[in-house]
Amino acid sequence: MLSYQHLYHAGCAADVHKHAALAALLSHMTRKDKALTYMETHAARGLYNLSDAASLKTGEADSGINRLSAADLERLNPDFKEALQHVRHTYTPQHYPGSPFIARHFLRDHDSIHLCELHPQEFAALKTVMTSKNIFLHHKDGYETVLSLSPPTPRRGVVLIDPSYEIKDEYNQIPAFFSKLLSLWPEASVMLWYPILSENRHKPMMDTLKSQCGNLRQWHDEVIFENNKGMEGSGLFAVNMPYGLTFPDFKAVLEITEPS
Ligand SMILES: C[S@@+](CC[C@H](N)C(=O)[O-])C[C@H]1O[C@@H](n2cnc3c(N)ncnc32)[C@H](O)[C@@H]1O
Repeated sequence: MLSYQHLYHAGCAADVHKHAALAALLSHMTRKDKALTYMETHAARGLYNLSDAASLKTGEADSGINRLSAADLERLNPDFKEALQHVRHTYTPQHYPGSPFIARHFLRDHDSIHLCELHPQEFAALKTVMTSKNIFLHHKDGYETVLSLSPPTPRRGVVLIDPSYEIKDEYNQIPAFFSKLLSLWPEASVMLWYPILSENRHKPMMDTLKSQCGNLRQWHDEVIFENNKGMEGSGLFAVNMPYGLTFPDFKAVLEITEPS
């Protein structure tokens, strides 16, 4: 039984880290007209209103997106700023885009988007906002579904893996998933998000991933949130990022070093 709901955490600093990186990747990949396939193992509901009771209850957006000025956003990533402004303009200034919305912002009609989500309420909400002929929604396990769709046509594409890590075994499941995915779809650009917690559960997973992807181009970025009560930081690991893509310095904007 899944209990995690991303609406309590939307817009937190870890979300901003992940979404700014995703925006940089998709903006870069859509510079070429050539079609691509985008898949997400864990989509959640796609769009959030940060003035909803759930968001206000945790207040996590206050140390994330709500803390950033327009200048911070520009420094973080102008592509992310553009996607955020689009959502704020279309809905309200309190709305915040989840990863499916970021993807839809950058992808074109000739690209395909596959979004997987298991939680019934999250899936129902996703269905109301993600409607388009090139968007395919899967109310199924994200790992199995992405493998069953791989390799897609077109093969040029991206997989975002953004689990809630509710099940401890997920840390072991992810390296195995990477192996299977890349054996089916070797050219996929794959990005994984993980939390940095005091128990450091991500460390064995990262050691395994780095060694098993040793022959691939890797990108790894960690941002530490000082004074954060829950999550100590946010990590991103990616392979097969396109040539010519350089990610912004996320730490410079997102690391809070002064007492809050
Ligand atoms: C961290 S949230 C995803 C957030 C989203 N990617 C974003 O950035 O806007 C994780 C989501 O994965 C869902 N989930 C958990 N296990 C899953 C699985 N095996 N397959 C698909 N969805 C799953 C949860 O219900 C939750 O909504």
